[in-house]
Amino acid sequence: MTSTPVDLNPADAARVATAVLAPLVAQGAIIRRPRATAWAERHQTDRTARKVLAGLRARHDGAPLVLRIGPRRLVVVTEPGDVQRLLEGSPEPFTPANREKIGALRHFQPDGVLISTTTDRRYRRPFNETVLRPEMPVHDDGAAFTDAVRRGAAAMARRLHDSGGLDASTFTDTWWEIVLQVVLGPAARADRELVDVLDALRRDANWSWFHPRDDRLRAELGRRIESYVAVPEPGTLAAAAHAAGPVTAPGQVPHWLFAFDAAGAATLRALAVVAARPEVRARVLAEVAPGVEPALLPYARACVLESLRLWPTTLVVLRDSTGPTTWGERTLPGGTGFAVVSEFFHRDPDRLDHADGFAPEAWLDGRNNADWGLVPFSGGPVSCPGRNVVLLVTSHLLAHLAAHDLRVERGRYLASDPLPATMNHFGLRFGLRVGGSAPTVEGPERRSSA
Ligand code: HEM
Repeated sequence: MTSTPVDLNPADAARVATAVLAPLVAQGAIIRRPRATAWAERHQTDRTARKVLAGLRARHDGAPLVLRIGPRRLVVVTEPGDVQRLLEGSPEPFTPANREKIGALRHFQPDGVLISTTTDRRYRRPFNETVLRPEMPVHDDGAAFTDAVRRGAAAMARRLHDSGGLDASTFTDTWWEIVLQVVLGPAARADRELVDVLDALRRDANWSWFHPRDDRLRAELGRRIESYVAVPEPGTLAAAAHAAGPVTAPGQVPHWLFAFDAAGAATLRALAVVAARPEVRARVLAEVAPGVEPALLPYARACVLESLRLWPTTLVVLRDSTGPTTWGERTLPGGTGFAVVSEFFHRDPDRLDHADGFAPEAWLDGRNNADWGLVPFSGGPVSCPGRNVVLLVTSHLLAHLAAHDLRVERGRYLASDPLPATMNHFGLRFGLRVGGSAPTVEGPERRSSA
C-alpha cells in the first residue's frame, strides 16, 4: 500500500467525476430527488462507481487519488487507514465545515455545528451531546420517543389494512409526524408546513453555492422552530434543548429535523429486506417481548445499521484541510478537499466477506464497528451524536411494522444475496400477504411496545 497521493490523469479524473461523483450530486446530497434516484437504481450507479474506484485503488496501490475539479483539488481516499486519519483528525486539521458543505447547509442551518468554525464548535458540539445523549443506547426520553413511534406505527397499520398497501409516500407522511413529535412535541405533529418550508430550503441546498439563499423562507423556518422551543413540551428534544441552552437551541434544531429524513429512508429499506426474508422477520419479532420499556432491540438496530451500510444515506463524507498536511512523501496545501465515498468502503469485497449480503450479525459481534471503512454515522470527534436516538426510533418502528405479514413488491431481488447496489426507496411499496398472518391493528402495538 502506498500513502503518497497520486494525481489522476485527465481520463481517470473524468471517470471519477462522471461515474462516482456526478450520480451522487444528481441524486441530491441534502434532499434526494426522486426522479434522479429512480434513474440511479435503473443504472445501478453505485455498482459502476465501486468498480471505478476499486480499479484505481488496485492500479495505484491504495494511494489517495487526487483530482482537479475546476480550481478545487479533491483527494478521494481508498484505504480505511486514510479514513481513520481524516475522521480522527477532525475538526483540526480536517474540518467538517468544508466548502461544499457550508455552501449547502447555510441555506437552512447556518449555525449548525457541522459547518461551524472550530471556535463555535467548542460549545455547539457539547450542546448537541447534552441533548442527544450519544453515549446512551436508550435516551432519557426514550419512552416518550417510542410512544411517538407506537402512535405512528398504528397510523401506518391503519392505512395498510384499510387500503391493502403502504407506499413510500404514505410512510413518509406518517414518518414526519413521528419526527415532529419526537423533536418538537405533539403540538407540532401536524405542522406539515414546517416540513414543506424545510424541504424547499433543502432543495435550494442541493445546489450549494449555485443557488442564492432564501432569507425570507429561512426566517420562516426559524420562527416556526422557535415557537415550539420557547414553550417546549416535556419528553422532546426541544425540551432538552431548551434546558441545555435556549439561545443555542434554534440554530441546531434544523439539522435534527433534516437528518431524521435519512433515518426514514433507512427504515424503509430495512423493512423491505425484512418483508422479503422470513428468517430476518422472525428474528426481529423474536426479540420483542414484554419487559423493560423501552426495549433496546439489538437485532432490529443491527438491521437498520445494515440498511445504512448497504445503502448509505450520507453518500460522501467530506473534509477540508485547515493547513498543509503531509501524506507519505507529499505535502498538500491547506484548503485541499478530501472525500470518503461511503458506497465504496461499505461494500468492499476485499475487506468484507458479507460485502453484498445482509448480515446484521456483523454489527452485533463487533466486526463492523472495528472497521474504519464502515462509517454510516461517520467516526471520531465529529461522528453523529444522533446515532442512538436514530437507532432507538427506527428499530422500534421496524419491529412494529414487522409484526404485519408484509409483502414487498419486487421482493425477489431482496430475498437473497447479493443485494442490489442501488435501491430507490421512493419506489418501495408493501402489501399484505394473502393468507399470511395479518394481526389486528392493536396486536403488533401491544407486542412490540416493550
Ligand atoms: C440515518 C440517520 C442519520 C445518519 C446516517 C447520520 C449520519 C451522520 C454523519 C455521517 C454525520 C457526520 C458527517 C461528517 O462527518 O461530515 C452526522 C453528523 C451529525 N448528525 Fe447525524 N445522522 C443521522 C441522523 C441524525 C439525527 C436524527 C440527528 C439529530 C436528532 C443527527 C445529528 C447530527 C449532528 C448534530 C451532526 C453534526 C455533528 C458534528 O458536527 O459534530 N443525525 N450524522
